[in-house]
Amino acid sequence: MQLATPPDREAPADHPIEANIRRRWSPRSYAETPVSASALHSLLEAARWSASCFNWQPWNFIVLRKDEHAAAHEKLFGCLSVNNQGWAGKAPVLMLAVAKTTAPTDGSTNKYAWYDTGAAVANLAAQAGPLGLQVHSMAGFDAAKAREAFSIPEGFDPVCALAVGHPGPADVLPEALKARETGPRVRRKLEEFVFFGGWQG
Ligand SMILES: Cc1cc2nc3c(=O)[nH]c(=O)nc-3n(C[C@H](O)[C@H](O)[C@H](O)COP(=O)(O)O)c2cc1C
Repeated sequence: MQLATPPDREAPADHPIEANIRRRWSPRSYAETPVSASALHSLLEAARWSASCFNWQPWNFIVLRKDEHAAAHEKLFGCLSVNNQGWAGKAPVLMLAVAKTTAPTDGSTNKYAWYDTGAAVANLAAQAGPLGLQVHSMAGFDAAKAREAFSIPEGFDPVCALAVGHPGPADVLPEALKARETGPRVRRKLEEFVFFGGWQG
């Protein structure tokens, strides 16, 4: 089986960082290999232990295994943008991260709901690499269609779709996707977004 992180996908970090962060990336090619139930539970457990505002834990995950929930997997696939449909269908697991947008105390708006849900996805993704898996977030989906397809009530926002699986070889992808799959991994430099001592606009 292909490595969860081929050497050319490792982040060329400027400062030392933990291996699971350096080796996390967003693949477009997935192997057919199913994701084990225990690995899937570990990903979700990692999400569970994220920090959140007032410990309100606003995240929710609809988890759709291609082998067990084929119709629902297909339904979420049908909510993805055309671009994402170009590669995400092979992922053995699709998820939908859904944020509860109201405070459990008094029903007022929880303005940190998306922030906390994103943090939970980041934990989930960081847990994936050591288990041979990778996670690819997708904003490219129709949230209204997903809400209807999965009967998601008001007070909850579909935030992001996720493709989860064991990465596959890049050379099975169409040329344009292959180029993105193998292109350089780039980031802004620390100096561009870190302002030690105060804002420097
Ligand atoms: C919130 C969010 C939404 C994203 N939406 C998409 C998407 O719709 N389609 C896609 O191919 N990649 C999507 N990505 C993946 C990013 O393009 C990717 O994280 C970025 O290029 C950095 O690459 P890396 O994750 O491999 O480091 C998304 C990532 C995040 C965090």
